[in-house]
Amino acid sequence: MIFSIAKEEREIFTIIEEEATKLGYPAFVVGGFVRDRLLGRQTKDMDIVCVGDGIKLAEAVASRLNPIPRVVFYSRFGTAMLKHWDIEVEFVGARKESYRQDSRNPDVEFGSFEDDQNRRDFTINALAVSLNQYNFGEIIDSFGGLRHLEEKIIITPLDPNRTFSDDPLRMLRAIRFSTQLQFDIAPKTLASIKENKSRILIISKERITTELEKILASPKPSIGFNLLFDTGLLQLILPELAALQGVETKKGKSHKDNFYHTLEVVDNLCKKSDNIWLRWAALFHDIAKPPTKRFEPEIGWTFHGHEALGAAMLPRIFKKLKLPLDHKLKYVQKLVLYHLRPISLTKEQVTDAAIRRLIFDAEEDLDDLLMLCEADITSKNLNKVNKYLEGYELVRQKVKAVSESDRIRLWQPPITGEIIMDTFKIPPSKEVGIIKTAIREAILDGNIPNEHDAAFELMLQEGAKLGLKRG
Ligand code: CTP
Repeated sequence: MIFSIAKEEREIFTIIEEEATKLGYPAFVVGGFVRDRLLGRQTKDMDIVCVGDGIKLAEAVASRLNPIPRVVFYSRFGTAMLKHWDIEVEFVGARKESYRQDSRNPDVEFGSFEDDQNRRDFTINALAVSLNQYNFGEIIDSFGGLRHLEEKIIITPLDPNRTFSDDPLRMLRAIRFSTQLQFDIAPKTLASIKENKSRILIISKERITTELEKILASPKPSIGFNLLFDTGLLQLILPELAALQGVETKKGKSHKDNFYHTLEVVDNLCKKSDNIWLRWAALFHDIAKPPTKRFEPEIGWTFHGHEALGAAMLPRIFKKLKLPLDHKLKYVQKLVLYHLRPISLTKEQVTDAAIRRLIFDAEEDLDDLLMLCEADITSKNLNKVNKYLEGYELVRQKVKAVSESDRIRLWQPPITGEIIMDTFKIPPSKEVGIIKTAIREAILDGNIPNEHDAAFELMLQEGAKLGLKRG
């Protein structure tokens, strides 16, 4: 079968073929590029395998391109990379490789093209296209990858125990591809993941998190998280999330399964937003339900304070997953902390003051918070869902009305610390903070309008209470 080469790639493929022929290296384009093209998915990364020195081939190809690209090479791994327009091309010599039982890094030896094919993770990733003169463009399918693409199956080319023991990260990759492509994992391959799950512990956290993030960035992440749970991998890599699973019943009262609820929330949200940090927030919004769970005989199951404890647990989880500990963590924390607030505002008689406080606390993330809260409505009862959704529409309208009348959105208080210090001729001090807070609270409660003159007047009154005189 011949691979249909796009016009913009013909030039580079032809140059690789010519240069590889001059060097006497058989060359192939392999892996994800071939898979994705056959599936009609976008791809800009191209992996070239040659039976020879990948760095030499990369340099020869670069010298023929216009403009000549810079070749970045990693001599330790024998790989080289160049960028031609927006295509990233990586060159590597064919190799055999295997991971030792206790090591994160592979042992690498040069090998034949067959060796290279044998070491690939899944049959759909072991498809190659020849860049050799005698069969240029022919698809080489050593393990039935074309059939598995049709049948939508993830399956290892060799005994899965060997493939997974060579690189345990592949267990996560199987689940990630299954989520991204909505393919099934073949029963033997899946059974082997369950058997080998504890080998995931030798893999670095960064590589694990990259896969988790790709699962989360997929259209329906629940596919992946369910597989992670069912194989036992989630319990090893993110036990806090796995702990949400399960239903407990006492005195005839049950709570919902918070793991499946969380996954429903994530899937709901993914229909509305591609923002990966908002997706992390959805994944973690109920993370503190297990440690806050209580049974109160009069009420039933409660999870008091799970939003605050959840926000407090996040720095440790982010650190463990090697996620950034910067404003992105703060953003996720804020959404987790406030995720119950809007639901309490869906009631008809909510005051402007409550709406104003939400606008003030959520700042520029209010729309994201409302999106998360809407996604959080999961119930089998469609009437109930619709009732809540209508309630959110009402909250949105009220937010709009209050923001417009108060100009409270992205709020800067009309009286700053500098004005207070200048008026009373005092240095930075506790008093400045007390007056600022009093003004903010009065505006948020609607006791004074969000205007300079009213705030100035209140500042004078609060100052007098503290024994301060206008300087
Ligand atoms: N590969 C592998 N085992 C791994 C990683 C990669 O066998 N642990 C092989 C697969 O043949 C894969 C190719 O190397 O297709 C390229 O790897 P990578 O770029 O990580 O993945 P892609 O398949 O290209 O997919 P994606 O870009 O979505 O990660």
